This record gives sequence, structure tokens and C-alpha cells, in this order.
Amino acid sequence: MNPKAHQPDSLPAPGPSALAQSEALVARIRAELNDAGGWMPFDRYMERALYAPGLGYYSGGARKFGLRGDDGSDFVTAPELSPLFAAMLARPIAEALQASGTRDVIEFGAGTGKLAAGLLNALAAPGAEFDSYSIVDLSGELRERQRETIEAAAPALAGKVRWLDALPERFEGVVIGNEVLDAMPVRLFACADGAWRERGVIWRDGWFAFEDRPVAASADLALLSDIDTAGGDYIAETHDAARAFTRTICTMLARGAAFFIDYGFPRHEYYHPQRTQGTLMCHYRHRAHGDPFVYPGLQDITAHVEFTGIAEAGVETGADLLGFTSQARFLLNAGMTDALTQIDPADTARFLPAANAVQKLLSEAEMGELFKVIAFSRGLDDKLQAFSSGDRSHTL
Ligand SMILES: C[S@@+](CC[C@H](N)C(=O)[O-])C[C@H]1O[C@@H](n2cnc3c(N)ncnc32)[C@H](O)[C@@H]1O
Repeated sequence: MNPKAHQPDSLPAPGPSALAQSEALVARIRAELNDAGGWMPFDRYMERALYAPGLGYYSGGARKFGLRGDDGSDFVTAPELSPLFAAMLARPIAEALQASGTRDVIEFGAGTGKLAAGLLNALAAPGAEFDSYSIVDLSGELRERQRETIEAAAPALAGKVRWLDALPERFEGVVIGNEVLDAMPVRLFACADGAWRERGVIWRDGWFAFEDRPVAASADLALLSDIDTAGGDYIAETHDAARAFTRTICTMLARGAAFFIDYGFPRHEYYHPQRTQGTLMCHYRHRAHGDPFVYPGLQDITAHVEFTGIAEAGVETGADLLGFTSQARFLLNAGMTDALTQIDPADTARFLPAANAVQKLLSEAEMGELFKVIAFSRGLDDKLQAFSSGDRSHTL
């Protein structure tokens, strides 16, 4: 093997056992490549790199979520930044449960369990009632971590939590997923000399490499053909897995609401003539770069969400689009600034970290604008407070 080109000096080197795990994954993907005749579409590579049982990034032992690279983590998410995120998200969830007369919650991709613990505590407060909180995660390894977090932070409510191995056919209640859609495999396409080709993975000179192949006519190709590439080279992703997931959730949702929070754009911004390199991004020890062949299984691979496609997939099932707005607008509508004013500024040990996190969650330069909230509903008559102003559904 010649992985050196994909072990940049700018990244911290993994320890020997992590490297051994990565090498085992490389061997497994390489065997699959051989079986497939030497080429696999990028979404298959990404699926293996993230979810191959026992070895993929989310299904293996990597630490993943945390505040700093020196704790072995790779990136931070909103629930990890501050408990205020869960406290604010609990408000529209409680409102949707009440308005739909339902009492159950399902969270997809629950990470360390921090969001679940925060929501459990907030939803148990007087006036907000629920019967069960279920978690669905592709990662069995994270299940143990989630259980520990919930038992430590919401011990009295741990009995209401269950982990689902399969989805119910029909669900009445509220579904949530924070940064789940961006973790779904994407197909990659490259346009050169006016022709679109699908970007796949091959084995060359001792390591993975990209190779582009002609594409047959398809819905994806029709979507790509609409992009104004300004006559130049262009790389773009399409999101079959995230769209199929949204369709499944909205079909399952018989009554209630589904909220997804993630970074991304509506289609016209996503496939903007100037976004020529696509949005594929990798995270390793809090450093972001664009090479998905670095340390397979040890780094996160992600792409921004194309929200118009998500909205179409949900609405196709007959669900209503409840709202689409920026994370900042959603959290402000839910009352985030009031929540901060309830912490005494003289209590600096509590106030300063909370103020710092609120700034990150709301600021346009950080998560406030890039992150969006999209929600679907069935059987809800009224708009929720969290979408009461700044709803951008018309931009989808
Ligand atoms: C970026 S992490 C976000 C974790 C957590 N929600 C947070 O905000 O910290 C993505 C999570 O989504 C999970 N995931 C991806 N696809 C999924 C699916 N189809 N069903 C359930 N979980 C999924 C992954 O296993 C991973 O735990």
C-alpha cells in the first residue's frame, strides 16, 4: 500500500490501533472494489467508510464528537456546544406534541445522547408531557455512549428511552434529527467540457483514487443538466440516500411533525455557478479538508444538504411542509435570547459559556445562517412559534 499521499503532515497521526482499524477497512473496501470490477460509485465508498460494521467511522470506535482535537474528537455539534440548544428545541417539540395530541418522540442519529438527555429533562417539565423517547442510530457503538449520557444526565427519565432496531410502519408523534442528513452518502458527479460523468472510486498506485465514468440518463442527470456551470469544470453531489430517508420518515409519520436541522442550502444556492467544487468535506481532529481517502474509517465525510430535494421528498408523501428557516431565526423565535437573560451575568461560571455558545449558535459567521431547520407535519393546523417569522419555505 502507498497511503502516504493521503496521510498529510498537517494532520495529527492516528495511534497504532486506529491505523490498524483503518487498514482493515481499506482491505475490505478494496476487496469489494475487486468484486465490483474495479470501480464503485462514490456513495458506496462513503457508505462503507462511515458505516461498514465495526470498522466505519460511525460504526467503529472513533471518539467523533467533542469540543477540541486533543480529546481525540473530530467535530462539534450544537447539542455538544450548550444545553440551551436542547432546551430551545424542546419548545417546538412540546408545541407540536400538544397540537397533534401525540406523546411520543423519535430521535435519529443521537450522537453522544446529549440532545436526548436535554430534551428528556425539558419535556418532563410541567406543561410538556410525553410517554416515550426512542432512538434510532446506525451506530451500535454509539448506543452505549447514549445510554451512559442519559443515565447520568436524566436518570429519572432513562426508563422512557428505548432503542429501535427497525422503524415502526406508522408513527404518531415528533421526529427529530440533528446533523443526520449530512451524514448520508452522496453521489458525486464532475462536469468537464460540457459533459457530466459520475465520479467513482478505483484502486491505483497502491491507494484509492477518483475515476469518472459516463452516466446514463437519470433523474440525477436531469438535475445536474440544469446547473449553470458557466462553461467551466464543476463538481456536484446528489442526495439519493437523504431523499429516500426523508420519504421513509414522512410516510411513517401518520400524525405530528418531523424536524431536521443541518447545514445546507436551497437548490438554487446549492448548485450556484460559483460553487464549482461541490460541498464534500472531511473532518479529522477539528480540521476540515476535502480528501475522502485520508484515514478511511477514522475521519468524518459529509456533504451539505440540498434542502429543495428534501422538501420535495417529504411533500411527495402527502406530508405538509411546516417550515424552513435558518437555525438562528428558529432558535430566536423559540425564545433563545430570553433563556440567556435568565442566567445571572454575575454568575460568570454559567453565564460566560452560555453566552459564548449562544453567539456560536446564532451568529451568521458561525452556525446561525449556514444551518437550517426544515420541518414536515401531518394533521397540524397551525404554524409553530419557531416558524412564526422568517419562514423561507418560498425559497425552496
Ligand atoms: C453528524 S452525527 C450527528 C450526531 C448528533 N445528532 C449530534 O448532533 O451530535 C450523524 C449521526 O447520524 C447517524 N445516522 C446516519 N444515517 C442514519 C440513519 N439512516 N438512521 C439513523 N441514524 C443515522 C450516524 O450514525 C451518526 O450518529
